[in-house]
Amino acid sequence: MSNLTFGIIKPDAVKNGYQGKIIDAILENGFGIRGMKLIHMTKSEAEGFYAVHSERPFFGELTDFMSSAPCIVLCLEKENAVPEWRVLMGATNPEEADEGTLRKMYANSLGENAVHGSDSDENAAIEIAYFFSKLELV
Ligand code: CMP
Repeated sequence: MSNLTFGIIKPDAVKNGYQGKIIDAILENGFGIRGMKLIHMTKSEAEGFYAVHSERPFFGELTDFMSSAPCIVLCLEKENAVPEWRVLMGATNPEEADEGTLRKMYANSLGENAVHGSDSDENAAIEIAYFFSKLELV
């Protein structure tokens, strides 16, 4: 059975021109793209999206970064989409990411780590609904 997950190609990866390579990797790894758009988040939109991290010391830095430049939001479909996308992304800290993962190849640092992915089916549904209306999902 196919599942959905939510992904972001973050501002650092878009600024560095890696969006095409990341979308190629998504398709080559068997994901379907159900929704995709280029957006530039406001600070308050970034704060709403990352509200779960609002008490963390890096919250200000994270939301400044995510609202600093355009990013690409994605709704991805695949069997076991949530864990499959997390495997393709690699560890949150690119220094710990496996060879061949997106963060190993395209991320600069823990804060600017190229891509985001949901950590559960429940959060995937919440995150997809935060950025996409039903009409925007194919
Ligand atoms: P992401 O998967 O988007 O979820 C939350 C983000 O917070 C994470 O990727 C990292 O980019 C960022 N993050 C996590 N820990 C730190 C940290 N210690 N300092 C800065 N950013 C962090």
